[in-house]
Order: sequence, then structure tokens, then C-alpha cells
Amino acid sequence: AATEKGNYHHFMQKEIFEQPTVVAQTLRSYVRQLERQVALPQIDFDITAIDRITIVACGTSYYAGMVAKYWFEKFARVPVDIDVASEFRYRDPVLPYGGLSLFISQSGETADTLAALRHCREAGQTIAVVVNVPTSSMAREADLLLPTHAGPEIGVASTKAFTCQLAVLAALAAHMAVKKGMMDAAEERQVVDHLLEAPACLNAALDHDEDIKAMAHLIAPARDVLYLGRGPDFPLALEGALKLKEISYIHAEGYASGEMKHGPIALIDDKVPVIVLAPSGPLFEKTVSNMQEVRARGGKIVLISDAEGIAEAGEGCMATIEMPKVHPLIAPLVYAVPVQLLAYHVACVKGTDVDQPRNLAKSVTVE
Ligand code: G6P
Repeated sequence: AATEKGNYHHFMQKEIFEQPTVVAQTLRSYVRQLERQVALPQIDFDITAIDRITIVACGTSYYAGMVAKYWFEKFARVPVDIDVASEFRYRDPVLPYGGLSLFISQSGETADTLAALRHCREAGQTIAVVVNVPTSSMAREADLLLPTHAGPEIGVASTKAFTCQLAVLAALAAHMAVKKGMMDAAEERQVVDHLLEAPACLNAALDHDEDIKAMAHLIAPARDVLYLGRGPDFPLALEGALKLKEISYIHAEGYASGEMKHGPIALIDDKVPVIVLAPSGPLFEKTVSNMQEVRARGGKIVLISDAEGIAEAGEGCMATIEMPKVHPLIAPLVYAVPVQLLAYHVACVKGTDVDQPRNLAKSVTVE
């Protein structure tokens, strides 16, 4: 049953390993496999008229939104504004009539996000909600309900809800692109094919569990850890740092790889592990030069990349974690796995309460 741990030590571990299954399950509602088309629930408003999207969320759901911003802008060429819910209302956001506001939440009950939703409703926005709990307040108040089918998530630190949110958001961005005439049928088929590759790629990432477990002791003694990523993988660096903070209580920061030289580089010494998330591709060379900047200062690097990236830049790293070679669209889903597993195993080394970390709640219902 969803509410039992089975053979796993923790719910979080079980939920990390469920990802291939629940992402596949979620995708079944958002793509037509035979036709190789994206398929969304009935939309009662004119999606082609949407020329601006406002995304609001908290925590891990906010990072899913950050990834989605890349997709909406790249595929549909629709500008996206994104805020953490606790900041959103107080900056008196400009909400043009006819805009789409998109809320992302596992629980559907996070107080700040729900308050932001109601604020947007009053401002005449169309409300779309990506949510894992179909009976939640946010689900009930949506014009467009986009459920994730991750099943109950019990570990306080979100894992499988995140990858399912990404799957839904990618489908929504592609759908919007198709409707707006920004994506043709051939491109749509490719997007669908890549999305459908995600479950197998998540499985391939999970195959590295033992390697990650074996290197967790290298990270566990650290006081500070830096995570770096670029483009749509930058939010994954933020998510990696969040996961480590949440369950292992190690201070961690996520940074855009190229921004490191404007600050965090001052912290680098042989005691600050630097986790680099860098699938091979057009941006890889830039990241390699950021890695050289770290190395020149005695920094210890853990490179998470595919075989190609590791062959090119793995030498001299403290450790490498090999991911399957994936299309950039699904890299944020696949690279979620090693950052989740790394946080998980470091927390296990430290002996913290993985499923119920101190001071944190599964759903934060106060503003
Ligand atoms: C809490 C949880 C996080 C979660 C965040 C947002 O802080 O501990 O794991 O990401 O709330 O929750 P939501 O249910 O809105 O996604």
C-alpha cells in the first residue's frame, strides 16, 4: 500500500524509487502514446489568447516552476513571471486581464500559495493548478486542474511529486506551443517521445544508488556544500541544496554555474564540496571552465554528468556520478534522482530523521 514502507528504510527512499512508475502513470494522462501527441484535460478558456503566465509556488514546487519557465518561454514563447508565494502578493504584481496564473503544489493546501491563488482569482486571472492531492483546496478552486499522479507522498521532503510536476508542466508547455502554432506536429511527436523516455531514464539513474551511497561519507562531514547548474538544470542545483539542507542539516547553496564567480567562489576551499550538475551539451564547455575555477582553489568536485561529460571533465574530480545520456528536455527529471539520493544517503550517514526532519512540516498551512 502507498502508506507502507515495504522493503524500504524510509518513505523518502521508497518515494524516490517510485519515480519511474509514477512519472509513467502521470504521463499516461498527458500524452497519447499512439498518436504521439500531448493531451490535456478539457480546457474551457482560449489557451491561444494567453500571452503571459504567472507561476506561484513554494519550496520544491517552486523549483518545478522555475524549470517550467524555461519550457513555456522556449516552446510557446510566452513570457513567464515566477515568485515564491510568500513574496508574490506583497509586491503588488501586475496582473494583466486575461493572464494565466499557474499554481504548483503537492498538497494543494500550502497557505501562502492558496492565498496567492485567491488574490489572482480576484484580479480576474484564469487559475491553473498542478496539484497532487485531488481533493485539496487548490484543486477545488482551479479553472484548469492538472493533477499529478504521484500517489500519497509521506516523506516531508518532496521527491516524486516534483518529477511528476515536471512531467505535467512539460506537457502543458508543449500543448500551449502547439495551440499557439509555435510547435509543429513533428516537433510535438519528438517532445512526446522524449517524455516517454523519462521513466526508463529515471530507472537508469536509480541504478547508481549504490555508487551514491558509497560516496555519501565524503559529503557528510562538510559544513557547507555548493551545488551548481545551468539553464533548466540550474533549478536542480537549488533543489539539490534544498534537499540536503532539509534532511541532513548541512548548509547548502544552489547557484547558477556562471554566477559562482560573483560570490560563492570566495568560499571555496578543500572543505567545501561542489556538486556540479552538467549534462553534456552546448553549455557543457562553460561549466567545465567554472569547474576549473573551483579546482584552482583546491575545491573538491562531484561531477554529475553522462558518460561523455565524465570522459571530458571527470578527471581530478573527488567523485563522479554517471547519468544516462538524455535529451535536455528530460534532464531536469533525471538529474533530480542523484540529488535526492545524495541528500538521502548523507542524511542516513548522519543518522537524522529522514522522513520527519526537525522543524519542517509536510504541508505548511500558516502564512
Ligand atoms: C513544505 C514541504 C516541502 C514542499 C513545500 C511546498 O515546505 O516540506 O517539501 O516542497 O512545503 O509544499 P506544496 O505542498 O505546496 O508543494
